[in-house]
Amino acid sequence: MRQRSQDLRLRFDFNNMMSEYVGKEQGITKAQLKANSELCKKAFETVQENRGKGMMGWSELPYNQDQVVADILETAKAVRKSCKYFVVLGIGGSALGPIAVFQALKHLHYNDLKDKARKGPKFYVEDNVDPERMLALFDVIEPEKTIFNVITKSGSTSETMSQYLIIWDMLKQKFGERAKDHVIATTSMQSGNLIKIAKKEGLKTFYIPDSVGGRFSELCPVGLLPAAVLGIDIKKMLKGAAYIDKLCNKPDYTKNPAMAFAILQYLAFNQGKNVSVMMPYADSLKYMADWYCQLWAESLGKAVKKDGSPAFVGQTPVKSLGVTDQHSQVQLYTEGPFDKVVTFIAVDGYRGSVTIPDGCEEFPNVNFLCGHTLNELIDTERRATEYALTKKQRLNNTIYLPEVNEFTLGEFMFMLELATAYIGEMFGIDTYDQPGVEEGKNATYAMFGRVGYEEKRKELESAPKQSKDYIC
Ligand code: PA5
Repeated sequence: MRQRSQDLRLRFDFNNMMSEYVGKEQGITKAQLKANSELCKKAFETVQENRGKGMMGWSELPYNQDQVVADILETAKAVRKSCKYFVVLGIGGSALGPIAVFQALKHLHYNDLKDKARKGPKFYVEDNVDPERMLALFDVIEPEKTIFNVITKSGSTSETMSQYLIIWDMLKQKFGERAKDHVIATTSMQSGNLIKIAKKEGLKTFYIPDSVGGRFSELCPVGLLPAAVLGIDIKKMLKGAAYIDKLCNKPDYTKNPAMAFAILQYLAFNQGKNVSVMMPYADSLKYMADWYCQLWAESLGKAVKKDGSPAFVGQTPVKSLGVTDQHSQVQLYTEGPFDKVVTFIAVDGYRGSVTIPDGCEEFPNVNFLCGHTLNELIDTERRATEYALTKKQRLNNTIYLPEVNEFTLGEFMFMLELATAYIGEMFGIDTYDQPGVEEGKNATYAMFGRVGYEEKRKELESAPKQSKDYIC
């Protein structure tokens, strides 16, 4: 049966952010929200005005990719037919989306399934340059049956380009001229080295629009190609994004869940809530928390405002998993400093059900579990944790997904992208730059002797030498 979009609409419940529920000392009041309605309006209008411009190309991705999607689907079909392993080489925004969507929508032991049950290539995302991991990859793939998708917008990221060089060398040695059949490049059409390399080697290439930054790129070929190769319905993902976009087409926080999320986090931050915990109650969503952490941290952690004045804003995002982290982090969240907002992600309908069978009749303290489902248990534990936090005056809110599917993920990711854009405006910062990340990238180039980074190298060499007094 075809599902109606409104049945798949996500819901944002922020009762436990409010003073009526968590108390006046910590909670946010209706009066505060009212007093900030002009700020919401301004943030909303600026985001609306800038849609599709500058670095806001991401806002139009649900609408302007018909041709790209057709190309992706055709390529994905061929890849699924010809290969047994699909390996993404990328890092940060060029990896976290593909990882999160894979985990959310494919079997939780996908790579361990037999070929017939898996119905698609095994999937690996190599987002680190740990040599042990690279060697481990070579132990599990068969190069002749592998396609590597090298993803880097800048085409110069040391990690991704090192991986590319290693893979290309291996492919060239094994397959000579046919090496190019094993690599797909996803990169900027205009700038960077990868596009030049791709042209020289004749690689199949997809483009990352220059107006789409890494952490906002899941809904362009960065995320759509790996998803399509995995057999995920990418059109449905884009439809979900467009659906929530429409729903968020007004500044009123009572009607726009992205605005509600943004203004509440903004007010909470100004009240000392420096930490934003993302806690899905579903293994399928555990890497969505990682994706959120990058989006929130890299977009909002800024030292200066757009007008040049000091900012020093941004919540530290923390990834947590329900129920697993109830047995590690939740003690801190319930009784530690009043510096956090916990966002639960709840799922109304899991994709399966497991009943706890009868047993242990002579042990009532175990037997009470019998006859219930794990579905009931995970949801009850979420509500119990929510209760415990609220009782201790800890701000928390919940994003409800009716189920985990392509549509709801599109909604979820796009809503958080919008929320990031709104709160960035509220802080008055540039949401789309990342000078802190660039500093580290540039220092690596300088230390490795890249041409053009001689000054940076001098700067590094003149930094104070480490003292033995402080190493023990
Ligand atoms: O969000 C960002 O801009 C970064 O996290 C980038 O995605 C990351 O640094 C990788 O960059 P690139 O795609 O240019 O290799």
